[in-house]
Amino acid sequence: MEIIVCDSPHDVAVQAADILQGYANDGGVLGVATGSTPLLTYQELIRRHKAGEVSFAGCTMFALDEYVGLPIEHEQSYYRVIHDEFSDHVDIDPADVHIPNGLADDVPAACAEYEQAIVDAGGIDVQLLGIGTNGHVGFNEPASSLSSLTRMKTLHPQTVADNARFFNSLDEVPIHVVTQGLGTIQRAGQLVLIATGEHKAHAVSQLVEGPLSAACPASVLQIHPHATVIVDEAAASRLNNVDYYKFIQQNKPQ
Ligand code: F6R
Repeated sequence: MEIIVCDSPHDVAVQAADILQGYANDGGVLGVATGSTPLLTYQELIRRHKAGEVSFAGCTMFALDEYVGLPIEHEQSYYRVIHDEFSDHVDIDPADVHIPNGLADDVPAACAEYEQAIVDAGGIDVQLLGIGTNGHVGFNEPASSLSSLTRMKTLHPQTVADNARFFNSLDEVPIHVVTQGLGTIQRAGQLVLIATGEHKAHAVSQLVEGPLSAACPASVLQIHPHATVIVDEAAASRLNNVDYYKFIQQNKPQ
């Protein structure tokens, strides 16, 4: 894994945007995440798009996950979040923005169709990821199969509590979701995981320096051939080898 430690959340967003911009300008297939961490990255990409530096015209997007049973008009549906915070502000064809269907009558069939749509698009070139305080990626909670594909999951109470800030009350947070699996995520060409803030420091230390384990689903990045972890100083604060990771960045082979 490449570990990039940045001075600030803004710098994390700039680094992530630098990577995504390259894929976007090549008309790539982009895997996009929701939650609060990617918002600065999306704002940076929108800024660059308006400045004429990046185009998403030939791109396809696949979101990681969606709540089950939340109408897509709901402002916290991930359909709305991806559209409102990112895709509606750039030049991607809306028909090329794919979000898992959390409203399907037959959710398992919809999950299988989502997997097939990713395959039909040629696979995801770059997948942007956040990380939960309990080490989840997508909504693959602890004990998720490391080879899982898109499916329905039940959120961990910690995740429900973490996400309650987006809703009026804890009771409004759906507890069921559809998420790309850890196996789906493993198939992407490059993984870019971003994390900021001290509250992510434990999860980041388990991801980078803990064992490969379903107890920390994000640890699957350890067995991906091209995984990039971009964190700020606060999120890096519990890494034992942080000085080494910085040394590597300062001494990249030419
Ligand atoms: C969202 C997702 C989640 C979040 C994670 C961190 O699509 O897949 O794994 O990335 O819960 O969320 P934030 O960034 O809000 O701390």
